[in-house]
Amino acid sequence: MTAANPYLLGNYAPVGAEETVTGLPVTGRLPSGLNGRYLRNGPNPVTPPDPATYHWFTGDGMVHGIRIEDGEARWYRNRWVRSAQVATVLGEPPRPGPAIEWMDFAPNTNVIAHAGRTYAIVEAGARPYELTYELGTVGASDFQGTLPGGYTAHPKRDPVTGELHAISYYWAWGNQVQYSVVGVDGKVRRTVDIPVGGPVSIHDMSLTTSYAVIYDLPVVFSLEAAAAGSSFPYRWAEGYESRVGLLPLEGGAEDVVWCDVDPCYVFHPMNAYDEDGAVVVDLVRHPKMFATHLTGPDEGAPVLERWRIDPAGGKVVTQLLDDRPQEFPRVDERTVGRQNRYGYSAALMNDEKDEAGFTMDGALIKHDLVTGASEVRAFQGGAGEAVFVPESPTSGEDEGFVLSLVYDSEREASDLLVLHAQDFTGDPVATVHLPVRVPYGFHGNWASDAT
Ligand SMILES: [Fe+2]
Repeated sequence: MTAANPYLLGNYAPVGAEETVTGLPVTGRLPSGLNGRYLRNGPNPVTPPDPATYHWFTGDGMVHGIRIEDGEARWYRNRWVRSAQVATVLGEPPRPGPAIEWMDFAPNTNVIAHAGRTYAIVEAGARPYELTYELGTVGASDFQGTLPGGYTAHPKRDPVTGELHAISYYWAWGNQVQYSVVGVDGKVRRTVDIPVGGPVSIHDMSLTTSYAVIYDLPVVFSLEAAAAGSSFPYRWAEGYESRVGLLPLEGGAEDVVWCDVDPCYVFHPMNAYDEDGAVVVDLVRHPKMFATHLTGPDEGAPVLERWRIDPAGGKVVTQLLDDRPQEFPRVDERTVGRQNRYGYSAALMNDEKDEAGFTMDGALIKHDLVTGASEVRAFQGGAGEAVFVPESPTSGEDEGFVLSLVYDSEREASDLLVLHAQDFTGDPVATVHLPVRVPYGFHGNWASDAT
């Protein structure tokens, strides 16, 4: 009997074709100032995987893009990222570029625009891949010869300097991770190798105006799992010392201050900022990760917490902000590293019917972190990560739009919803109707034409 794998069913199922569709139908009116691309990356295996062993994190990356200009939805494109293997399967020659031979992979986790280029990115030792404006693959990238190894799926852009800060990990580096800063010229200007407790998996980081925050938590490379052929051989490590590190932004590894925290796992912080010498982080905390469920993230309800990390000493102080299961927290990117008032997350539900565990719910949550209030916007289909786009560069926090891909199961296709952030539960400003499904995936961003 073939084992069911929830990450290959319903709207998690990969799509089999690349599409190019121009002149998309729109309900409502797209804001005239919204000129750029909505980009989203996610796993979409180019060859059918074995359902018994397929891990959601390991499917070949497919980037989806919707081009919006002058109030029109000009095009939708979806393209596999051409790693050497994907190119071969598609009958194409491999692209040139500095791929790392043993770690060549089609990045499937995030897609960003930086220094005039577009990159599909992923963690765990693989290079970024550069894409064209229309999502064709240029090739593997080491940021013009400046990136020593692999990168991360979650760089944080300082909204003042424009630089990208990142924590990268790779099991072959042993018990260390690497902090890097990519300048506005697209080149790495600085790296710091930081000793950690093991060959740990660090999915994301936080940035404040003073520190880079390092999450040294108990998900660690497992030689046993690798030897058994696991495609994502990272496991919960019982007894691993859980801690969070504060690296002063221009400091070295010896300057990191470590603070203990109760064992848990964090994929995604919402935002972080300095307060009275300490760092405050709002984040989504999972009680464990990859302890019993080995095909995707599902070890109990992920909840929104506030952590206060004080470099003057002591354990991290945690506070529950919202116990509803949720993930993919985002903010107005202009507040990264500074105190924000609003945040947006995707609600999750525990779908016991198909043993999918925590899966996309049909709701987005808008949090007011000052008053503690929240608004929930429900949809008929599952909603993806919310991406905030300011109305103009000078508009205030929350003065803009929230974009999210929502699956319409009746149409078996997806819509790009454009909500007004200040009318979160009201009628959408616009709905762009895509001709096809966009499978549930990971992260996206608005790539403005202005930057
Ligand atoms: Fe992520």
